[in-house]
Amino acid sequence: MHEAVWTREQALAVLEDPSRLASEDPRALWKRCGLRRGMKVVDVGAGSGYYALPASDLVGPKGRVYAVDRSVELVDLIRERAQQQHRTNLEVVLSRAERIPLADSIADRVLLANVLHGISASTVAEAVRLVAPRGQLINVDWKRASTAGGPPIEHRLSAATARDLLERYGLRGRSVSEFGPSHYAVILEKPAPSSRT
Ligand SMILES: C[S@@+](CC[C@H](N)C(=O)[O-])C[C@H]1O[C@@H](n2cnc3c(N)ncnc32)[C@H](O)[C@@H]1O
Repeated sequence: MHEAVWTREQALAVLEDPSRLASEDPRALWKRCGLRRGMKVVDVGAGSGYYALPASDLVGPKGRVYAVDRSVELVDLIRERAQQQHRTNLEVVLSRAERIPLADSIADRVLLANVLHGISASTVAEAVRLVAPRGQLINVDWKRASTAGGPPIEHRLSAATARDLLERYGLRGRSVSEFGPSHYAVILEKPAPSSRT
């Protein structure tokens, strides 16, 4: 797999490119998966906070967003942005995604955005561990097709491959859909314990 640690400079140039909003709208994604006030979210490989900051608006003061990244520079960047914007419900977690220091089933929504193509299989198990029963794991990633920007095509997973991979960890696929011109979104649910037989 192709794993990369992003720098602050890269993140500001690429992840915070203003043109990104037209093709990958974070609020639209959160709306699609039913994020609402009071919920808890973990954003694994949060980068510059492109998805985590809007999530913090949507969950409100009684909700919580944990933005996890292994890059010191990016965790610092998100922390600075959160402080400047007086956000009290956003916590940064400097951690490798393979072992995240958060409790089991902590989140109503766990997001993997543009990371699954570049992380190890143990990360998937770790992300699934964090999802609460009846909670959702959302995977947004680049289509396995020629697109403007994005990782090399040989590093990408198709939406069907991503869904199959995530279902192997006990999740149930709810939907697979296009998300803008270059991405797809796969939404999966963790079954409640009694319905796992
Ligand atoms: C392509 S960026 C995506 C950032 C963000 N999810 C977005 O869509 O804007 C990938 C991010 O994952 C982080 N990352 C890569 N491998 C990781 C790992 N093993 N553990 C934690 N973070 C990782 C990188 O530092 C980077 O910030």
